[in-house]
Amino acid sequence: MMKFHFVYLPVISSLIINGHPVVSRKTCVVESHGVNTTDDAPAIINAFEECGRDGKVIFLPTTYYISSVMNITWLDNVDIDLYGTLLWSTDIQYWLNNSLDVGYQNQSTAFILGGNEVRLNGYDQGIIDGNGDYWYEWISRQENTSNYPGRPHAITFNGLRNSVVSGLAFLRSQMWTMSLIYCEHVILDSIFVNNTGNVVQSSNTDGADTIYSSHITFNNWTVYNGDDSISLKADSYDVNITNSKFYDGQGIAMGSIGQYYGVTEHIREVRVKNITFDNTLHAVYFKTWTADQNGYPPNGGGGGLGSEYLSILKSKSCAERFFAWSDASNMHFDNLHAIELHGAAFSISQCTRFSGAPGDGNCTNSEFEILDITINNMTGTTRSNQIASLQCSAVKPCNDIGLFDINLKFNNGTPATAYLCGNAESPRGFNCTGEPCVGGSATGGC
Ligand SMILES: *[C@@H]1O[C@H](CO)[C@@H](O)[C@H](O)[C@H]1NC(C)=O
Ligand SMILES: *[C@@H]1O[C@H](CO)[C@@H](O)[C@H](O)[C@H]1NC(C)=O
Ligand SMILES: *[C@@H]1O[C@H](CO)[C@@H](O)[C@H](O)[C@H]1NC(C)=O
Ligand SMILES: *[C@@H]1O[C@H](CO)[C@@H](O)[C@H](O)[C@H]1NC(C)=O
Ligand SMILES: *[C@@H]1O[C@H](CO)[C@@H](O)[C@H](O)[C@H]1NC(C)=O
Ligand SMILES: *[C@@H]1O[C@H](CO)[C@@H](O)[C@H](O)[C@H]1NC(C)=O
Ligand SMILES: *[C@@H]1O[C@H](CO)[C@@H](O)[C@H](O)[C@H]1NC(C)=O
Ligand SMILES: *[C@@H]1O[C@H](CO)[C@@H](O)[C@H](O)[C@H]1NC(C)=O
Ligand SMILES: *[C@@H]1O[C@H](CO)[C@@H](O)[C@H](O)[C@H]1NC(C)=O
Ligand SMILES: *[C@@H]1O[C@H](CO)[C@@H](O)[C@H](O)[C@H]1NC(C)=O
Ligand SMILES: *[C@@H]1O[C@H](CO)[C@@H](O)[C@H](O)[C@H]1NC(C)=O
Ligand SMILES: *[C@@H]1O[C@H](CO)[C@@H](O)[C@H](O)[C@H]1NC(C)=O
Repeated sequence: MMKFHFVYLPVISSLIINGHPVVSRKTCVVESHGVNTTDDAPAIINAFEECGRDGKVIFLPTTYYISSVMNITWLDNVDIDLYGTLLWSTDIQYWLNNSLDVGYQNQSTAFILGGNEVRLNGYDQGIIDGNGDYWYEWISRQENTSNYPGRPHAITFNGLRNSVVSGLAFLRSQMWTMSLIYCEHVILDSIFVNNTGNVVQSSNTDGADTIYSSHITFNNWTVYNGDDSISLKADSYDVNITNSKFYDGQGIAMGSIGQYYGVTEHIREVRVKNITFDNTLHAVYFKTWTADQNGYPPNGGGGGLGSEYLSILKSKSCAERFFAWSDASNMHFDNLHAIELHGAAFSISQCTRFSGAPGDGNCTNSEFEILDITINNMTGTTRSNQIASLQCSAVKPCNDIGLFDINLKFNNGTPATAYLCGNAESPRGFNCTGEPCVGGSATGGC
């Protein structure tokens, strides 16, 4: 039984309304069954099959109940108007068994959306609700809480190209709110994320994560969460984050990265401007794994660009080495405002490990290089004396880190003064005042 109205209007290319040519599109209006005992996912998939190419899919201002995975990858030139709420089911065992592979770090997801020229608009009223309170309570009772296998991201944009996602709210995501993988030329504008738990605090609820993606814009985001506000991971290129406010999480993260033994990864060309960090741990932090591999992703790993691979590289030309070298580089952070940060405003830890990963290991042997990073103009308040904590690799020291016009104060007006440096070469705009804490870390610092 078709659970959507199928309206097909033939193209009348000569029709002009208000001076604009109007091309009628094949339109599917999705109907909800209205109860969480009936799954609306099949009807939604049908609508995208019928109208997902050169068409339009409309969700009415009502609640749609989703109790099964959706993998919608074939979109092409489609408008998706979401006026209602998509609400995910609370059957945790089902999701643990059935969540879809994201394609990195053994992460999984409830919903994959991909294709070319997708315009997903929530008009400031559309809501993607992960029903995460159930997950936050459940995970708090587990032995291992970090990156629990099968715990799904709310949505994964996979292979989304030339697309715009706007005016949407994401509430209580099951885990990470969204992952973007193999995406190109995507604008994510006016997005509101609130992963604050109503019963217990949420964890692992990143605002967004980019992987193997380029030319991505995050503009006008508001994120309340319990992990990275936005995190750029392996092979993120040309990513801009602008005019946004991040609350309660860990701030903007580069990484974790360097988790795959012998694999080369980059994060390059990142521009961040006009961001407020309110009650976050850091403003900006970097996290890379060490050269030693312990276990497998998501919670274990390490050895990004391992030593075996390096010995092959030594025989290669400079240009080949440049592209083969793992790095985070060419990043600009301007006009950052902080309100009561908890930790170092700018932090680098090259000794990443998550709970459950064994071994204390060596914190200064990472082959991953961090270079050419500039922060300009950061003001506001902090509860930490640390402006910067740079725990860098001795093997590939951080290079060319610039910090200019940083004015952070405690609430009583005393300025924060510490710039802690380990293996940070050619600092610009500041002098190091001491050594950082060196030790295993999931969130920067020790
Ligand atoms: C359906 O909704 C009820 C009431 O909110 C909730 O207790 C139950 O867990 C939900 N079931 C599913 C499968 O989402
Ligand atoms: C999940 O998988 C387990 C083990 O295979 C099985 O016992 C259980 O019935 C499954 N639950 C659901 C809801 O699919
Ligand atoms: C999603 O569907 C595409 C084909 O449309 C398939 O190639 C891909 O493997 C599916 N992804 C998952 C995680 O099942
Ligand atoms: C997933 O985990 C398995 C072992 O648990 C590991 O062999 C594999 O490399 C991991 N895959 C990814 C993509 O991280
Ligand atoms: C910014 O996003 C919010 C939703 O979080 C929206 O209400 C507001 O209109 C957007 N502002 C602009 C200038 O688009
Ligand atoms: C975020 O969600 C929490 C929990 O429901 C709620 O208390 C809080 O008011 C919400 N914040 C905003 C800004 O909507
Ligand atoms: C990011 O901003 C820079 C500088 O304004 C611009 O050159 C670049 O094209 C922008 N990238 C994206 C993906 O919008
Ligand atoms: C900075 O971002 C805020 C939203 O967080 C916006 O209201 C403000 O207009 C932006 N300022 C500039 C100079 O663009
Ligand atoms: C510094 O950033 C603040 C926002 O945090 C902005 O209001 C101010 O204009 C910026 N100053 C300069 C010189 O750009
Ligand atoms: C928790 O993590 C530890 C260390 O990785 C592992 O040995 C143990 O099996 C995990 N427990 C569960 C229930 O997954
Ligand atoms: C860590 O590894 C580096 C590079 O192999 C080595 O130079 C350094 O001595 C090691 N440090 C410790 C404490 O083992
Ligand atoms: C760093 O210290 C040198 C020597 O004391 C001093 O000349 C320079 O002005 C200092 N730089 C900054 C940014 O404080």
